[in-house]
Amino acid sequence: MRSFLLCLLCALLPAQDAFLVKPYLQLGDAPKVAARERLDLLWHAGDEEATWSVAVRGAKGWLVQATPAFRRLEVPPLAPHRIYRTTLRNLKPGAVVPYRVTRNGEVVFEAEAQARKPGTHRMAVFGDAADGSKGQMAIAKAVAAARPDAVFITGDLVYGRGRAAEYRARFFPVYNGEAAPLMRRIPILGVVGNHDVPFPEFPDASAYFTYWSLPLNGPALRPGEKSAVPVKPGVHDAIVAASGPAFPRMASFSFDYGRVHWTVLDSNGYADWDSPQLRAWLEADLKAARGAAWRIVALHHPLFQSARSHFDDQWMRPISPLLEKYGVDLVLAGHVHNYQRTAPLRFRPTQVGLRGRPVAGEFTVDEAFDGKTVTRARGPIHIVTGAGGAELYDPWQTDVRASWQPWTRAFISDKHSFTVLDVAAKALTLRQLDAEGRELDAITLTK
Ligand SMILES: [Fe+2]
Repeated sequence: MRSFLLCLLCALLPAQDAFLVKPYLQLGDAPKVAARERLDLLWHAGDEEATWSVAVRGAKGWLVQATPAFRRLEVPPLAPHRIYRTTLRNLKPGAVVPYRVTRNGEVVFEAEAQARKPGTHRMAVFGDAADGSKGQMAIAKAVAAARPDAVFITGDLVYGRGRAAEYRARFFPVYNGEAAPLMRRIPILGVVGNHDVPFPEFPDASAYFTYWSLPLNGPALRPGEKSAVPVKPGVHDAIVAASGPAFPRMASFSFDYGRVHWTVLDSNGYADWDSPQLRAWLEADLKAARGAAWRIVALHHPLFQSARSHFDDQWMRPISPLLEKYGVDLVLAGHVHNYQRTAPLRFRPTQVGLRGRPVAGEFTVDEAFDGKTVTRARGPIHIVTGAGGAELYDPWQTDVRASWQPWTRAFISDKHSFTVLDVAAKALTLRQLDAEGRELDAITLTK
């Protein structure tokens, strides 16, 4: 028995040594549903020569994929390391396919990847999570137990400053660990929050652009340009170099999953969505999505929310008329650490303040919609799903309805939670679940 255990240990050791971060899937620059799907596979390894290869199991055996390429990241406090990437290609939509990673001829990792589904699917959504807390881990496990087809994180991807070292400690071990092995099987997508931007005191901040691989179809912003993620030359050079074309363009993008079109916006203060360039991109993106069954906008800073915390950060409100014009169904945000749901609502800004000040305006609230008996919404419904693990904001407001804005219909801030979207062609069900999988809120939308 002892020799068996020893052998088992020997067999496991090389696999553990091979990776600094185990292989994880990303959607890659593949915004559209395709007849043959693909997924990017990334992993992090030490800065040393090795021969890597990735194979996908097909009907006739293992199919070797393109030779993995790598970018090198040398920025303290982590030791220099390599971010490897290849693409799993020719995947049947929705299929679950075994894949394996080989290092110097030895298989060091095996898992199954699930390709994007063309129709009915389940998406899990949460934000403001990766602070290394028990709450983060509890929600990660509950998300894995809900068996989503993909996950979207609504910003503040990793605390406290979006640093490479923080991803190593708090992000990958949780969302791709043994307790919640999400990222090796399905893609996790996300959007940058205020904690994911380049803080000048940390050269390894903004690691989002280096470690994630998402569509590069956002506004074509160049480094240093207005509305682009600001970096400090001489501080963030290593992160920028290791990010390649992802920096700064990957801050906003759009993609389709099933018959849903997602428009993902960088809502940080430097991004001016009133500017002609960004506004034109947003309008063109929504216009091109008119054939989609559902339209979702995802961003970090909510347009409409009731919590006392961050109440002045509702500066994205001026885009509401554009979202209404093109029939956006849901707006998913984080930033505020709780769960909130509004009635379907329309908004005309009358007074646009400076950044950091609320935007005043006129509301038209769909009072008839209840998500149970009346399920056709007149206007976008705004969801805050920022209860993914970090400390909750204003829990006292949960039971004090008088403290909510008149268009708020649900406000839960006394427990961590996440959103599950079950989407079919004519019906979309949104459920808010807690760490035990208990349903806290639910609505159905129909077309
Ligand atoms: Fe935030």
